[in-house]
Amino acid sequence: MKTYIVGNFKLNFTVGEASIYLHKLLKALPVYRDVDVVIAPSTVALQPLSLQVDRHKMKLAAQNAFYRDYGAYTGETSFSQLRGLVDYVIVGHSERRHIFGEDDKFVQKKVAAAVRNKITPILCIGETESERSFGETADVIRDQLLGGLADVADDELDKVIVAYEPVWAISSTKAAKLATPDEVSEVVKLIRKTLGETYGNDAAEKMPVLFGGSVNSSNAGAYLTVPGVNGLLIGGSSLILNEFVDIIETAKRVKS
Ligand code: PGA
Repeated sequence: MKTYIVGNFKLNFTVGEASIYLHKLLKALPVYRDVDVVIAPSTVALQPLSLQVDRHKMKLAAQNAFYRDYGAYTGETSFSQLRGLVDYVIVGHSERRHIFGEDDKFVQKKVAAAVRNKITPILCIGETESERSFGETADVIRDQLLGGLADVADDELDKVIVAYEPVWAISSTKAAKLATPDEVSEVVKLIRKTLGETYGNDAAEKMPVLFGGSVNSSNAGAYLTVPGVNGLLIGGSSLILNEFVDIIETAKRVKS
């Protein structure tokens, strides 16, 4: 299976800054056939960056989109408008869930809309600190996973990527608590078990599962060697070009 290294810029970088970053990243990267490098800049940068990107080297992702294709939805961008501009879209990120109130039903429609528009959704799931402390991690993971996938047909499951991001380990600015590789391993096993019980072992094995939460160039190797982890979703460290390139090179080394 491929390895996915996804940089989520969140609300950072002007269009110009993102373009300069992309220019430097393309210069720094050779073509890696078994590592899919992806960056998710802000929506306004997607159009210009789609003209600039070398798709042999890397791909673009949207950070969010709305599930209706058109209509009276002020301020939204549809998956159909993103079609052709991006290959991936991040769906159900914890910041969308917790700051903007997106629930599993909403996320479920977005995942289906992404698949319908031939954009691979990266479905983010993860428990908060208090859910973990109350022993609810397994329930939260199951609900978010099966909820998010509920409208995807069985024969289209191979068009979805899952990202496990424990909310308590995410921090774009200050040092968050780090998830240990054992903690990641436990939840990734649960994800695959849940997928296996619901969709069969074949579908469970084929679905890429990424990890995200304060990943940097020092811990990327440890997370990438957790069995069942097929890549990383990176926030803060993806904004620092050398860090991001280091992580991509680590992925190439660890996974080959
Ligand atoms: P972080 O963000 O790497 O800054 O913790 C990850 C994410 O939110 O996707």
